[in-house]
Amino acid sequence: MRILILGGTKFLGRHLVDSALKNGHEVTLFNRGLTNPGLYPMVETLVGDRDGNLDALRGRHWDAVIDPSGYLPRVVRQSVELLKDSVEHYTFVSSVSVYVDFTRANLNEDAAVGTLEDKTSENIPEHYGELKALCEQEVEQGFGERALVIRPGLIVGPHDPTDRFTYWVWRFAQGGDVLVPGRYDYPVQFIDVRDLADWMIKLVEAQANGVFNATGPDKPLNMKGFVDTLVDVTPSAGHPVWVNEEFLLSQGVEEWTDLPLWISDRTGWPGFQTVNVNRAIEQGLTFRSARDTILDTLSWERSREKPDEGRLKAGLSRERELELLRAWNERQAR
Ligand SMILES: NC(=O)c1ccc[n+]([C@@H]2O[C@H](COP(=O)([O-])OP(=O)(O)OC[C@H]3O[C@@H](n4cnc5c(N)ncnc54)[C@H](OP(=O)(O)O)[C@@H]3O)[C@@H](O)[C@H]2O)c1
Repeated sequence: MRILILGGTKFLGRHLVDSALKNGHEVTLFNRGLTNPGLYPMVETLVGDRDGNLDALRGRHWDAVIDPSGYLPRVVRQSVELLKDSVEHYTFVSSVSVYVDFTRANLNEDAAVGTLEDKTSENIPEHYGELKALCEQEVEQGFGERALVIRPGLIVGPHDPTDRFTYWVWRFAQGGDVLVPGRYDYPVQFIDVRDLADWMIKLVEAQANGVFNATGPDKPLNMKGFVDTLVDVTPSAGHPVWVNEEFLLSQGVEEWTDLPLWISDRTGWPGFQTVNVNRAIEQGLTFRSARDTILDTLSWERSREKPDEGRLKAGLSRERELELLRAWNERQAR
């Protein structure tokens, strides 16, 4: 198939490129040429800006377009309008963040999505989920039955630019006492970027349509299981020190960013990492083991350049972690 990817050079996009090429497809990239330029010298790259300059796409035809770089409905509308008569099928990468009510567990694709009162808002950090939901609607309006919407949970693995999952892998591999958050039974979900990309390419080949949640693993995993696997798999495995939520919050530890994959009870989102993926599994989504994801993330983490003296973008600094562990131990000794 001839597949156009809007983006394709940062994280999910590059794994989509790898998977499409591996499966014998002819790939074209469209991006500004800013992120990892020259990454795919053998792949046709059209240069432009999806916000206002799609000229390079005019007059061209593809069997499918995959859009992992859409965040604003106004911008997604531009590619939808331009491509709806020249491309057969449009896949939009959305997010589980579209869902409005994470007080409920096990949300499936029919659950309510967020809406924006101010439809002109372009504040992505504040309204990421609502804006993604509006982007989905643009694609569905333009492509109808030819639209495919993927709602991933946390995407992890090699080339993850956020360092959220990578923090845990890196930290346990450093050894010593590792501060871990609160509750053994806290549910954890993530998907290896390569499983997601391979499955998405299969859906594109099948010209599948509809909406799919996409996260893992297939069997429920909790924080204890996740931490046990990190201990088992990482060399010089760290020793987990379980610190309760109330203490972490009292010390100003930020959920999700300071301690990735953790959101406290206080947030009122008990269902956040319990999203239902039955539909995706029925459509062929499979999962490699967490062990493989951890090992491959570690080997990528060790091989990459670290511009900032090894400081990751997410997780606690070593100094802060030590300070918290000291305070926790003092409190326990009282
Ligand atoms: N990370 C997670 O845990 C997570 C979870 C759920 C959903 N998601 C979704 O998954 C997707 C991840 O995408 P990714 O960043 O990994 O995709 P990607 O395709 O690997 O990288 C983004 C691409 O978009 C291009 N781009 C950015 N702005 C552009 C513009 N104005 N015009 C043309 N091209 C532009 C970039 O190249 P240039 O800079 O060179 O233009 C780059 O190639 C996102 O949609 C995200 O919302 C992520």
